[in-house]
Amino acid sequence: MTETVFTNATLVLQDEVRQGALVIRDGLIADLGTATRSGIDCGGDLIAPGLIELHTDNLERHIQPRPGVDWPHAAAIAAHDAELAGCGITTVFDALRVGSIASGEGYKRYARALATEILAVRPHLRISHRLHLRAEMCSETLIDELAEFGPEDDIGIVSLMDHTPGQRQFRDMEKFTAFVKGKRGMSDEAFQQHISGLAALQSRFGAMHQAAAVAAAHRWGAVLASHDDTTRQQVETSARHGVQLAEFPTTLEAAKANRAAGIHNIMGAPNLIRGGSHSGNVAAQELAAAGLLDIISSDYVPAALLASAMMLGGVWDDLARGFATVTATPAKALGLTDRGRLAPGLRADLIRVARLNGQPLMRGTWVAGLRVA
Ligand SMILES: [Fe+2]
Repeated sequence: MTETVFTNATLVLQDEVRQGALVIRDGLIADLGTATRSGIDCGGDLIAPGLIELHTDNLERHIQPRPGVDWPHAAAIAAHDAELAGCGITTVFDALRVGSIASGEGYKRYARALATEILAVRPHLRISHRLHLRAEMCSETLIDELAEFGPEDDIGIVSLMDHTPGQRQFRDMEKFTAFVKGKRGMSDEAFQQHISGLAALQSRFGAMHQAAAVAAAHRWGAVLASHDDTTRQQVETSARHGVQLAEFPTTLEAAKANRAAGIHNIMGAPNLIRGGSHSGNVAAQELAAAGLLDIISSDYVPAALLASAMMLGGVWDDLARGFATVTATPAKALGLTDRGRLAPGLRADLIRVARLNGQPLMRGTWVAGLRVA
């Protein structure tokens, strides 16, 4: 039997925060209350459930640390895993794009090969990894790429993305122009060609791609997510498809419609921390103030997940509620009944966090009772 005892901790429970002790035994949370044995003296630090991240592009950054550099994948996966563990994330859904554009300024096909590599090393990694396939409607190869996956890949989430310029995330063309030109260093002429090519692809394949991605998610038992909802009509379509998660709604109207349809609103941590969206969309803080924000995702900054939980705790004057957006609520939305809360019998996925001038400082991460960071 292995046992670890945390004493003098500030326990972040689902509905309240209170001082106490926590005992983990054989990988599970065994007891909450007052410790009878001595253990790790937390000195008042927070002990919270490990964070659950539903949508991160962080692995791509490790695979391609600079434009044109393809870093060895096994090393990139291990570094990504260690980074997330260090940020307090104990369960991650690694977002991989399916749906590529072979020609011109397109996106390269990579998801199947990388998924195989992740699944092969998964048992040896520090934290729990599942796959999140981001199905790009505005692409050439989505149907072929979906056909390369099956239930054995244990896909947790399929999101329906449509990044055609002039709508959703990129309905503000000025911001889109700055984003693409800045990211890819394109000339005006190449840029014009690029956007008309994307619009043509969307009108040719969009509807077919949407149907194929919805069918694949249902076939695999994956949770379906929408992405960048803007209008009530888009939310109605999502609801018809059985969508349960809405990633980054771009307007208050869409967020309200999602709430009414029983779809969880997910907002990006960088948007919350920066006080607004880089693409000119609704601010996460506005949704938080309106009580429409359910879940936070770190998107492209892993460390922002914990910072967001703390920040929302301040906004709502309720630290437990702030943490629930990155623990209990995503766990419930994904059907992960074995984690996401500090409760006896659940997996001992937890983090120790000090607070320094209101900022979180990670002091340790445990996964199934083992210290991993
Ligand atoms: Fe997007």
